[in-house]
Amino acid sequence: MDQVFITDGTQTSLDLCARILADAGDTAWIENPGYGGARAAFQSAGLVLEPVAVDADGLAPRPEQWRDAPPRLIYITPSHQYPLGSILSLERRLKLIEDARAAGAWIVEDDYDSEFRRGGVPLSAVQGLSEDAPVIYLGTFSKTMFPALRLGFMVVPRYLAATIAGTLGEITRRGHVAEQIALADFIDSGQFARHLRRMRQRYGQRRDALEAALARHLRGSVTVSSSAGGMHLSARLELPLADTVVTRAARAQGLIVRPLSTYRLPGTPLAQYNGFVFGYAGVPAGAIDGLIARLAQVIDALRHEPAP
Ligand SMILES: Cc1ncc(COP(=O)(O)O)c(C=O)c1O
Repeated sequence: MDQVFITDGTQTSLDLCARILADAGDTAWIENPGYGGARAAFQSAGLVLEPVAVDADGLAPRPEQWRDAPPRLIYITPSHQYPLGSILSLERRLKLIEDARAAGAWIVEDDYDSEFRRGGVPLSAVQGLSEDAPVIYLGTFSKTMFPALRLGFMVVPRYLAATIAGTLGEITRRGHVAEQIALADFIDSGQFARHLRRMRQRYGQRRDALEAALARHLRGSVTVSSSAGGMHLSARLELPLADTVVTRAARAQGLIVRPLSTYRLPGTPLAQYNGFVFGYAGVPAGAIDGLIARLAQVIDALRHEPAP
């Protein structure tokens, strides 16, 4: 228990990791494409960002990156890469721990939605794979409950716990105590587990409806790239249209879809990540087919627009 620290959510945890575990000018490895919240936290702490590619097995650093841009922090979303959805393989998890240890780096493991994993063999958190692994595990209640609750937690290695406790005591103040007590009651009563079971099923239905609608209305135009589970799905756009042009036209029709290209770090070719990120957690399953049909109409209209 001494290794668990309650925070105001993952954004605060990321900020604390950057400030406590690194110095301005240090290098932070960041998944590319990846989570803008991590990018912003590290940049505002003065860290130098090194984009690291992601493939179907998760983070895939080039061997020379260890030599040429050795990291102080390595940010990963191993259980469901954000936004592509790949799962970091066991082999890569073990190798990353070994390499991080050798480089004197900290792995920041952002486990933001594994409560909504579907199918497949559950992999242990990177932190749990090796005794005293140099990993800070970040959890949040933003997805399981709601973002405005602003509650999350960090689990740190045993040998770091006293240092973190001392530093946090100096640079932060305790808050959200009433919310923490209410949440603890909710968990103890068994209602949180029931809520998770219900939402897992509901999100699963929404995900199935989305995949079916994409296959029905956009077959050949998009390729789904993420694994099942979670609350979002990413897909590559297979047409010669920029994703930002499509999402802007869609928004004008009241459809909110995020362009995958905006998750890239500067310097990454657009063609590599031209696509969409669909957040489906808040959309009833019965509404999804109609929404994707409308998106297909938007895309169709753009494809047949006369050249200027
Ligand atoms: C990758 C990722 N990590 C963490 C979070 C949660 O952040 P927070 O706890 O600051 O709300 C999100 C929410 O959108 C996310 O997408």
